[in-house]
Amino acid sequence: MKTALILNGPNLNLLGTREPQVYGSQTLADVQGLCEQACLANGFALDFRQSNHEGVLVDWLHEAGRLQAAGTLAGVILNAGAYTHTSIALHDAIKGTGITLIELHISNVHAREAFRHYSYISPAAKAVMVGFGVNGYALAIAGLAGMQ
Ligand code: DQA
Repeated sequence: MKTALILNGPNLNLLGTREPQVYGSQTLADVQGLCEQACLANGFALDFRQSNHEGVLVDWLHEAGRLQAAGTLAGVILNAGAYTHTSIALHDAIKGTGITLIELHISNVHAREAFRHYSYISPAAKAVMVGFGVNGYALAIAGLAGMQ
């Protein structure tokens, strides 16, 4: 059974209390539970992580590259939070490892402030999941299964 690696960037640990009108009332632990169900349904093991630190996310993407090359990782679903709009380092890590990566956003970033309209992740991603609320995580896991 291959693993789906789900990476969450800065401030996503605040889900549930952070701008609930934008991100909903479910916590990151709730999202992890939803991902566990979706992985079970799609034949994946789940590895679910969150960090507020850009370099940690870069290190995890490098680890993902090694695991995918070894054949144990199906791919990565990345909600990079605000680093989406700033991080050439994350872009380079995705390109440099060649991993199968789905970019995810809970909110519809294109309907929000202009500074959220550009993503450094999108040009390096295989697919993008935007604006489905936290249910987007389950949809992205199903999408990753369809890519195998
Ligand atoms: C987000 C959208 C980003 O613009 C924002 O900085 C986040 C969350 C989302 O899931 O909708 O932290 O990635």
